[in-house]
Amino acid sequence: MTQDEMKKAAGWAALEYVQEDTIVGVGTGSTVNHFIDALATMKDRIQGAVSSSEASTEKLLGYGIEVFDLNSVSELSVYVDGADEINEHNHMIKGGGAALTREKIIAAVADQFICIVDNTKEVPILGEFPLPVEVIPMARSYVARQLVKLGGDPVYREGVTTDNGNVILDVYNMKIIDPVKMEKDINAIVGVVTNGLFADRGANQVIIGTPEGAQKR
Ligand code: 5RP
Repeated sequence: MTQDEMKKAAGWAALEYVQEDTIVGVGTGSTVNHFIDALATMKDRIQGAVSSSEASTEKLLGYGIEVFDLNSVSELSVYVDGADEINEHNHMIKGGGAALTREKIIAAVADQFICIVDNTKEVPILGEFPLPVEVIPMARSYVARQLVKLGGDPVYREGVTTDNGNVILDVYNMKIIDPVKMEKDINAIVGVVTNGLFADRGANQVIIGTPEGAQKR
């Protein structure tokens, strides 16, 4: 099975967590794109979706699925999204697609975070994948210096502006032993909008695409 086929297996398996007549939280990325394909098969049985990126919004609208502003939604039963890395405690690194802030906001609203990944995303310790940090543009150099003090090597993601008009620093060489503390420490730096650690609020359910099909944990 290819990596994309494993992503597809995870994406389609997440459909069972979608409750009829609700608004569904939808993340961003190639695994989520498979989930959106699956969601389209029951589009007449859901109210619609909230989306974490312009890219996902476009795909949802292309299927005729209504996309709501999060401010008009008081509750979400599920938020389905991918991850760049996930550990055994369901802590994640996200933001490879630069959508981390909107993703974190929607995850905060949702009752259940359903994480869909292929098995290459499972790691014992987070940090091999560079940790994305969304930063207010004028604070970029200051935040980079503070991230060096925390032990990382930040690299400006050239040519990328987030959907919120900010920039991304990708932090290399962080061995993240305590993801909950690291998430808080980075978010405390003035000028940081948020970082890609989803540890304080991790995934409630993980669906892993493997060569044997989708496995849940
Ligand atoms: C986007 C994300 C994605 O969930 C993450 O990058 C995984 O992407 P993919 O499913 O394409 O591997 O956090 O900001």
